[in-house]
Amino acid sequence: MDLTIFRTSFIAFLEKEVKVKEPQNLYSPIDYILQLGGKRVRPLLVLMSVNAFNKDFNKGLHAALAVEMFHNFTLLHDDIMDAAPLRRGKPTVHEKWDVNTAILSGDAMMILANQYLEVYEADVYKKLMQLFQQTALEVCEGQQFDMDFENRDNVSIPEYIEMIRLKTSVLVAAALKMGAIIANSSDADANAMYEYGLNLGLAFQLQDDYLDAFGDPKTFGKQIGGDIIENKKTFLVLKAQESLKGEDLDLFAKLYTTNTVSTEEKIASVKDLFEKSGAVAAIKKEIKEYTLKAFGVLEPVTITEVTKNQLIDFGNYLMGREV
Ligand code: IPE
Ligand code: IPE
Ligand code: MG
Ligand code: MG
Ligand code: MG
Repeated sequence: MDLTIFRTSFIAFLEKEVKVKEPQNLYSPIDYILQLGGKRVRPLLVLMSVNAFNKDFNKGLHAALAVEMFHNFTLLHDDIMDAAPLRRGKPTVHEKWDVNTAILSGDAMMILANQYLEVYEADVYKKLMQLFQQTALEVCEGQQFDMDFENRDNVSIPEYIEMIRLKTSVLVAAALKMGAIIANSSDADANAMYEYGLNLGLAFQLQDDYLDAFGDPKTFGKQIGGDIIENKKTFLVLKAQESLKGEDLDLFAKLYTTNTVSTEEKIASVKDLFEKSGAVAAIKKEIKEYTLKAFGVLEPVTITEVTKNQLIDFGNYLMGREV
């Protein structure tokens, strides 16, 4: 699968558009986080989607940057909320600068994201904005559920899935649908692309939760065990709670409710129990199922087999990722 043309075009566009100016403490963090890279999943999906509907992918560059800018804004604020020290292998913005800087640069990024959509003609612009604003609000809802769940011990798996649909999947889905809107696809195709993105996004966040505990610290770029430290109610936690019995269940509950062991010991013991309970096997199965469901949704979409396979390859790449 060759996405090089999409990737290099997007990065060239980003470098042209994103410049540091005064006040430096507002714009430098924006440049910093965007230059640190990341996988560029969402902008690639916008461009792949425009291309799949037989339009020049360059038409999607502004929307791709809008989506990536918005995503990076959420990361600045998410890293404050999650007390995360590392992002893409480097200090988070609130660590390198301070919390106030990360809040305001994040706010500016959300505004910039909206401005990048202003280039589209009126009818396309209106559709893009409606989708983008609704998506942004849903991401806030997902983030609030994520925070609320930290302090609850009776979160159900359906509630967790709904939380990750909101905090993560809707933006992945919107990226694909924005591409379809820009390419003037039929509504049926645009909605199918959205559904594909929703399922891919669920698999993507499940994989993120898995890597947060079991990723390689050298490549993952985030603090390993961050979710365990923050008492996040991930799929791994909920599955472990469901499956563990007796002493194991007591130990698991104790690790999450008391501070009797060091952080390192807590992470190590929780990971052991994730394995022992079958939660690790269950999350891998779930990731695969949502990815396959995503592929199924693509079937009726009226795009060429070549571009369909490109989207399938991308889903498989995401499922196997270590980053
Ligand atoms: C991180 O997103 C936040 C999640 C929704 C899991 P990515 O994993 O896409 O982060 P980058 O942009 O590649 O760094
Ligand atoms: C990501 O959730 C959701 C958003 C940023 C909106 P996480 O908190 O799991 O993302 P990472 O792991 O910090 O990238
Ligand atoms: Mg986080
Ligand atoms: Mg978070
Ligand atoms: Mg995470």
